Amino acid sequence: MIILKSPREIDIMEQANKIVAETHAFLAEKVAPGITTEEIDRLGDQFIRDKGAEPSFKGYRGYPASICISINEEVVHGIPSPDRVLNEGDIVSLDIGAFYKGFHGDAARTLPVGQISQEAEKLIDITERSFHEAVKKAEPGNRLTDISSMVQAVAEENGFSVVREYVGHGIGHDMHEDPQIPNFGPPGRGPVLKEGMTLALEPMLNAGGYQVKSLDDGWTVVTEDGSLSAHYENTIAVTDTVPRILSEI
Ligand code: MF3
Ligand code: CO
Repeated sequence: MIILKSPREIDIMEQANKIVAETHAFLAEKVAPGITTEEIDRLGDQFIRDKGAEPSFKGYRGYPASICISINEEVVHGIPSPDRVLNEGDIVSLDIGAFYKGFHGDAARTLPVGQISQEAEKLIDITERSFHEAVKKAEPGNRLTDISSMVQAVAEENGFSVVREYVGHGIGHDMHEDPQIPNFGPPGRGPVLKEGMTLALEPMLNAGGYQVKSLDDGWTVVTEDGSLSAHYENTIAVTDTVPRILSEI
């Protein structure tokens, strides 16, 4: 069941997402060669709590940290560690959730560490663009997979593939609400979009094949072929006109 939110509830969700966006801006300044992913997690956790929110991910199904940090071929759900140091040329995805006044905010960005390859730069760019093209489809009267198919179109026309096993989601009082939002497939299917739907759209694009696997830590998802992966996520609200992106400052 898809839970519609009132304008007042969406305003609160915007506050939760603003904390997420501010945490992203704060951590983007810290991303540099030499920092460990544990240090980024610690700084992010503190920043979220200082804003009066709670990290949504901490303890979620046993997830042991506050921020998901995924490097290079890691797609999502990388676990911060004192042994993982960022190196020049890496790309790093930060996925951040904050729970504030009863609602979750959720957003992810992939950032360059120092100078990166042209391919990596293009992957980050196209992943972001796939979100921005797809979100235009989030208008009342359209169908859910109009969003999905646009992500896939942008990814594939640029030579990248779209992860199938992980999807976007509705979001609100719970971090994961209905509907699931695939980033691939034909348009014109799924629920009709309605004013008051709040959705986390999160394209995950790979430079190689779309196949992924999970590591033995039970969390980290990596590309099967070892190719680079990027992630771009925002929480949005469907309105009576154009969608409202809640997690951009
Ligand atoms: N943004 C992710 C999602 O949408 C993060 C959840 S992972 C966990 O599903 F760490 F919280 F488990
Ligand atoms: Co999400």
